[in-house]
Amino acid sequence: MAQNGHILTVGGKGGVGKTSVSAILTKLLLRDTKRLLLIDADPVISVAYTLGENPEQTLGDFRQTLIEAPARQREIEKRPIKSVIRDLVSTSDRGYDLLAMGRAEGKGCFCGVNELLRFGVESLCGEYDTTLIDCEAGIEQVNRRAVHRIDELILVADTSQRSLESVVKVRNIAVDYNEDRPIETHVVINRVRNEEDRSRAGQAVRELGLEVAVFVPEDGNILDYNATGRSLLDLPEDSPSVVALAGLLSAPVAV
Ligand SMILES: Nc1ncnc2c1ncn2[C@@H]1O[C@H](COP(=O)(O)OP(=O)(O)O)[C@@H](O)[C@H]1O
Ligand SMILES: [Mg+2]
Repeated sequence: MAQNGHILTVGGKGGVGKTSVSAILTKLLLRDTKRLLLIDADPVISVAYTLGENPEQTLGDFRQTLIEAPARQREIEKRPIKSVIRDLVSTSDRGYDLLAMGRAEGKGCFCGVNELLRFGVESLCGEYDTTLIDCEAGIEQVNRRAVHRIDELILVADTSQRSLESVVKVRNIAVDYNEDRPIETHVVINRVRNEEDRSRAGQAVRELGLEVAVFVPEDGNILDYNATGRSLLDLPEDSPSVVALAGLLSAPVAV
């Protein structure tokens, strides 16, 4: 996968495994990415918790402060917005930086503030080799609140027909927002239990005009780690989900 300000976004329907996939990709990217920024774009914070982090401040809380205290806004406007956003980023001792988006727009929010913050987030991404964004269901709010540009979109679905169909919807929204910039998409089918699941999902995705990049098996370790609150960064290297997703990162770049 390409580097240098590269923005990778993980999208798909709710509950299909986006956060787990994002956490495992973080683990894998840390193998050879020097500067990695992880953006938790789920308002209730998810990938951060899955990795054992508890961010103290979120972009959403900061946005609310700006709305409620216009004097604060004027003070902020004196500094480059990128450095203001940087103050909200925490550095994990596991080797990556983390920005939590937090709550969505609150009362009294107006476009100007959102635009300013989004510009700040997008400029900050340029300081990292790779930015990985874990979305809530859908990706609209990522475009509105985090970045306008996505270089690579990882579409996650499980083997249910509804989640497979949602992959196309999410892809179309992303392409639309990305305007004329190219977007590389990879379909990840998660929680594959057997060969039958695999061939049925593969066929359904082909019928939707896409190809599956990786099939991730049902992995008991993910369930165990999530149940006991252990960080998915500590999953064994030979855990089936880790092995499968390593194949995604080592795949040749399709244009
Ligand atoms: N490959 C997998 N094997 C087993 N359980 C999984 C797998 N992927 C996700 N899960 C479980 O599915 C649930 C939803 O996953 P999550 O990553 O939170 O989805 P999303 O972010 O799309 O809402 C979690 O309980 C997680 O432990
Ligand atoms: Mg999630």
